[in-house]
Amino acid sequence: MRAGNPYVVLFRRYVARQWRGTALLAALILASIGLQLLGPQLLRAFIDSAIGGAALESLATLALAFVGVALVTQVLTAWSQYVGEDLGWSATNALRADLALHCLRLDLSFHKARTSGELIERIDGDVTALAAFFSRFVVNVLGNLVLLVGVLVVVAREDLRAGLALTLFAVFAVFLMAGPLRNIAVRYWHRVREVSAQMYGFLGERLAGTEDIRSSGAETHVMDGLAWHHRAWLRSRRKAVYAGTVLFSMTVLIFAVGNAVSFGIGAYLWSLGVITLGTVYLLFHYTDMLRRPIEQLRRELEDMQRAVASVGRITELLRTETRLPEGRGAPIPTGALAVEFDRVSFAYEPGADGDDLVLRDISLRLAPGEVLGVLGRTGSGKTTLARLLLRFYDPTSGAIRLGGIDLREARLADVRTHATLVSQDVQLFHARVRENITFFDPTIDDERITSVLDRIGLGGWLRALPRADGADGALDTQMLAGGLSAGEAQLLAFARVFLRDPGLVILDEASSRLDPATERHIERAIDALFADRTGIVIAHRLATVQRCDRVLILEEGRIVEQGLRAALAQDPSSRFSELLRTGLEQVLA
Ligand SMILES: Nc1ncnc2c1ncn2[C@@H]1O[C@H](COP(=O)(O)OP(=O)(O)OP(=O)(O)O)[C@@H](O)[C@H]1O
Ligand SMILES: [Mg+2]
Repeated sequence: MRAGNPYVVLFRRYVARQWRGTALLAALILASIGLQLLGPQLLRAFIDSAIGGAALESLATLALAFVGVALVTQVLTAWSQYVGEDLGWSATNALRADLALHCLRLDLSFHKARTSGELIERIDGDVTALAAFFSRFVVNVLGNLVLLVGVLVVVAREDLRAGLALTLFAVFAVFLMAGPLRNIAVRYWHRVREVSAQMYGFLGERLAGTEDIRSSGAETHVMDGLAWHHRAWLRSRRKAVYAGTVLFSMTVLIFAVGNAVSFGIGAYLWSLGVITLGTVYLLFHYTDMLRRPIEQLRRELEDMQRAVASVGRITELLRTETRLPEGRGAPIPTGALAVEFDRVSFAYEPGADGDDLVLRDISLRLAPGEVLGVLGRTGSGKTTLARLLLRFYDPTSGAIRLGGIDLREARLADVRTHATLVSQDVQLFHARVRENITFFDPTIDDERITSVLDRIGLGGWLRALPRADGADGALDTQMLAGGLSAGEAQLLAFARVFLRDPGLVILDEASSRLDPATERHIERAIDALFADRTGIVIAHRLATVQRCDRVLILEEGRIVEQGLRAALAQDPSSRFSELLRTGLEQVLA
């Protein structure tokens, strides 16, 4: 979605395809309008025949016809609602899917700049507002206008004066409802939504941090915050409901005036003997019928405002382009990969100058199969280095090559199948064990999964899991986010790596301490992991450093030392041997 009027673009892409449904909807609505106009005519005939002393039989026929017309009208209304909703939702589901995919493809800097709540509001809230708009707006506005005009024409055919009076009244009512009264409640409901979004944001954040909140005794703070949000919510809701009531009373008042007008005219014309009593009722009934289209027109205008705002935000989102353009598809070789950083500097803020650089002038080379240990204090840029290797971001200057291919030349998906990052905090999904390991790839069979789990020492853990009801095996057990210890989570992440079999594994070691048994498992798993792959370990433990061929020490984004581990360890003047002497764990933990 690059150019053109956003409405035309959205309409073409998501609505125009469904012209058949739209045509059906229009037909249904027109038919139901015709029947609605017919109903009162039957009533008038009934009243006049009854006063004229008609036979019971013909009265019964009229009554039955009236009931029949009313029933069919209801059926048509229900049917048209169904078709309308169906149209709106099919159109917007496609839009919702496109938006979600678009967001998933956007780079991390986009996602870091927004809360997940905001994205949910964009993809769900805004699109829902549009669904209402698409499913109803055009058809409803046209339908209601036709109904309005139809009523006025039918009345004018009965009596021109009555038609004129009712037309004047309708113009006056539409003007009031579409003008000064339209926004009475909207503004306040808008505020309610803002306040409730803030409240859910507050709740979400506090629930996510429940462990820390309890351990630091901050429950009172949370309860106070909740009470504060609730008060704000109550205040804004009360205002909105008051405003809604005012609007409702005004509407009732306006139509009371309308009824008075139609009764007045009816009585006058009847006293002149121009119309029958049945026609007086007819006038009254048609006046009442004006109420619905006028109110609905007002509501459609509200919807339209909301939709206009949503279309603006959706278009903006669709026009946001990723900062990581897809490469031309240079193939990254398979097997253990050579890694090369060529004078790489990087800042998270685009266009930042020298002061904001998180990595400065980094150059390094790893031969296929080598293992590099990266050391450095917290905040020195180690994780950033790893993110650049997976092309979550592009370097501000310099180049990064995997197997001799510049990352910007390869396809993104190719980079991420050849290089894998095991991050500091492993994300577990609320899904079965199987999916948590295969990352929802159904082509991986159970045997492969269990053999990998055995290989990294999680076989015992798997067998000890409770079987889910009716499930074939432990792999079907539901997992909860946070249901594993830090060490187990790391091992599970290793299992994911084995199944994908990349040529480069980057391991951002958790800095928390592990119990000796888990540590042994992890050591063995890392051995297997690095056996025929290139490895980069962001190391926090001595045992991990000892397995590395090369060592690199970062300080404030700069390399302060790099070389072969054995050589650096033997050189008493090196930073590395100093670190070994003072105790790595104390310095880096
Ligand atoms: N998404 C981000 N946006 C902006 N700045 C960031 C972002 N992530 C990290 N930084 C900054 O970049 C610097 C390096 O962070 P990085 O996460 O690479 O450090 P680290 O060496 O991995 O630290 P640790 O040992 O604590 O994991 C820090 O100053 C940090 O504040
Ligand atoms: Mg880090």
